[in-house]
Amino acid sequence: MHTTSKPSRQKSWAKALAQPAAEFPLTPLPLLCGQIPAGLRGTLYRNGPARLERGGVRVGHWFDGDGAILAVNFTDAGATGLYRYVQTDGYKEEAAADQLLYGNYGMTAPGPIWNQWLKPIKNAANTSVLALPDKLLALWEGDNPHALDLETLKTWGRDELGGLNEGLPYSAHPKCDAQTGEIFNFGISPGLNATLNVYKSDRTGKIKQKAKVQLEGVPLVHDFVMAGQYLVFFVPPVRLNPLPMLVGLSNYSDSLQWQPSQGTQFLVFDRETLSLVSRGETEPWYQWHFGNGYVDPSGAVIVDVVRYEDFQTNQYLKEVATGQTHTPAKSTLWQVHLDPKLGKVTAIQQLLDRHCEFPVVPQHRVGQGLSPTYLSVQSIPNKDLAPCPDSTLHQSTEESISQEMFGAIARFDHQTDTLTTADLGDSRYPMEPIYAPEAHNPDRGWIVTVVYDGNSDTSEVWVFDSDHLDEEPVCRLGLPSVVPMGFHGTWKAA
Ligand SMILES: [Fe+2]
Repeated sequence: MHTTSKPSRQKSWAKALAQPAAEFPLTPLPLLCGQIPAGLRGTLYRNGPARLERGGVRVGHWFDGDGAILAVNFTDAGATGLYRYVQTDGYKEEAAADQLLYGNYGMTAPGPIWNQWLKPIKNAANTSVLALPDKLLALWEGDNPHALDLETLKTWGRDELGGLNEGLPYSAHPKCDAQTGEIFNFGISPGLNATLNVYKSDRTGKIKQKAKVQLEGVPLVHDFVMAGQYLVFFVPPVRLNPLPMLVGLSNYSDSLQWQPSQGTQFLVFDRETLSLVSRGETEPWYQWHFGNGYVDPSGAVIVDVVRYEDFQTNQYLKEVATGQTHTPAKSTLWQVHLDPKLGKVTAIQQLLDRHCEFPVVPQHRVGQGLSPTYLSVQSIPNKDLAPCPDSTLHQSTEESISQEMFGAIARFDHQTDTLTTADLGDSRYPMEPIYAPEAHNPDRGWIVTVVYDGNSDTSEVWVFDSDHLDEEPVCRLGLPSVVPMGFHGTWKAA
């Protein structure tokens, strides 16, 4: 059963999303403290919904906002920042009309009901980025990606990558093998029963191989796992009830139903042939994201997952667009062991009982073990103040889960089961912690995060030593204007 705590006054994070974010041109970033490390050379790219309103009308869900890309480039001469919206056709059309015209994940198209058919869902290009050798892709899981110029962030347009014909979707969570350069990804095509499309690309992003498997109903699958020679998909028990959407009475998000009796289904593919090795079912949970996956010496697939009890997280994320959340949706880090040949889950255990999201693994370790996991985690309210009874702490933690955003980042060491945390302080909101490796020793590196400071209504870039998150950041850089909390980013070495 779910309890819903009372709405309270707006939290500081809401200020970052209240107004559409302003683009800024290429700008030298002032060093606020510390020094840019000599080994930190490359570019951080981040994506996220930056405009949640147009013509005085708010979008229906945080996922509906137009994507804008931030690029922060670290050079010998200092750091620069550049921030631009992805110029999708829908964005340009709505900008010219100065009003929202299209439906999206969490909203039907404004205006008469026939707009549901005339104005199909807009590609918001707002979820993540993939940095290829000669272009940057803005990713959105319902459609083709958009290609942008790596330097100027000018939008070139939709990109089929040589294989995404007829709008085949390309998810926001591709997995790159640092050794072979291969890139794996998937897309879910809707239908009476959805199709899971699996793609293999070369290092330029060009699709070389495709496979497809039919799923049961239309589920929501946001991320997947690369583990050794396998690609693993967990299909949570969320299914689309298509009728209200088809007749224009409901949007996609509100038509998704939590059906725990279906369990979580999983599919294991061989990454070489893209053939299905096994499929099976395990207990119900919901996940947006996976941490790392790998094959252990016994041949078992080990998967880290940020797991929710149910699909209430979607309601919380919808409320974000209003500036005030009240639905608790706690997510914690778990590990799943499965036998890939038999299609059987053999163990499930919780690694960390702390509200967290955005698990990040250094790129050169994706698909292998032996890596810490970096995460956004919940600040523990008043943890440094005088001791309080456990129940009070529990209550304030619960309230924080339902009303706040993540206020800390952390490193989870799988060898020692220890969590090292950087709590950024009151009303400061770090985004997904991106790992930036040292050029000649990728096991050493930095964590780069963009921070919204609700105290001063400004945004900054903070850089931490990846092995010492509990120490002061090695440097902080000022951004010219607010960059609202977003979803995912990546690091491209110089
Ligand atoms: Fe995601």
